[in-house]
Amino acid sequence: MEVLIFDKNESASLYAAKIFAKQIREKPEAVIGLATGSTPGLLYAELRQQHEEKGLDFSGITSFNLDEYVGLDSDHPSSYRYFMQQALFDHVNIKSDRVHLPNGMSDDVPSTCVDYEKSISAAGGIDLQVLGLGSDGHIGFNEPSSSLASRTRIKTLTQETREDNAHFFNSADEVPRHCITMGIGTIMEARQIVLLAFGKQKAAAVQQVVEGAMSAMWPATILQMHPSVVVLLDEAAAASLEQKDYYREVADNKPDWQRI
Ligand code: GLP
Repeated sequence: MEVLIFDKNESASLYAAKIFAKQIREKPEAVIGLATGSTPGLLYAELRQQHEEKGLDFSGITSFNLDEYVGLDSDHPSSYRYFMQQALFDHVNIKSDRVHLPNGMSDDVPSTCVDYEKSISAAGGIDLQVLGLGSDGHIGFNEPSSSLASRTRIKTLTQETREDNAHFFNSADEVPRHCITMGIGTIMEARQIVLLAFGKQKAAAVQQVVEGAMSAMWPATILQMHPSVVVLLDEAAAASLEQKDYYREVADNKPDWQRI
């Protein structure tokens, strides 16, 4: 796990965009895994800008989002489909038939989940997955106690997550109780993972993910088992890390060939 600490979240987001742009240039038909929430906003803004100004080409890209709320259709302004259209899809040349989010309006959720897994496999698996981090340590919507081997399925959100996400709705009561999320086993099959975490409300989860013991109670700790994870943090999210100086030393002394 590579841990990079930036002075502010803008710099971390620019770095994440560099990783994505490199992936897209090196493999124009790459499969990318996308996240929603407040965290990746600047990453998507930078990718939009690189598309406009530098011709970053999404025409061969396939995308899979991590999760969607059950019961919200694509026109609902708090649905993740709507979020993605506004944040990225409407502004770049990604093909609409290559964009995938779980269907939160499905009347057969188990089949929808199986089909989502099949679509990821049929596309060749995810090359690069971006993840945010819940304050309770969730990735996607895999809440504490999720099986670390889980696949795409329905989950019930914790009260903490519903309150964290209330700012996307009129109140916490309006946040759906259920969602469909890629499982932890699904996420772990991505070939490369970029985890972003910003702000002091993420500091405890970040400390667990990087330095804690692996546990279903902090689902993101499974990332310690993944061979290619980059953790991009701002100072506030890194505040509780015990080995901060070491991570900085590693970053400062990186061989040139490892730099992007
Ligand atoms: C949300 C999403 C996750 C996201 C995380 C952090 O509820 N389901 O995919 O990464 O929780 O959210 P935020 O970036 O808004 O802090």
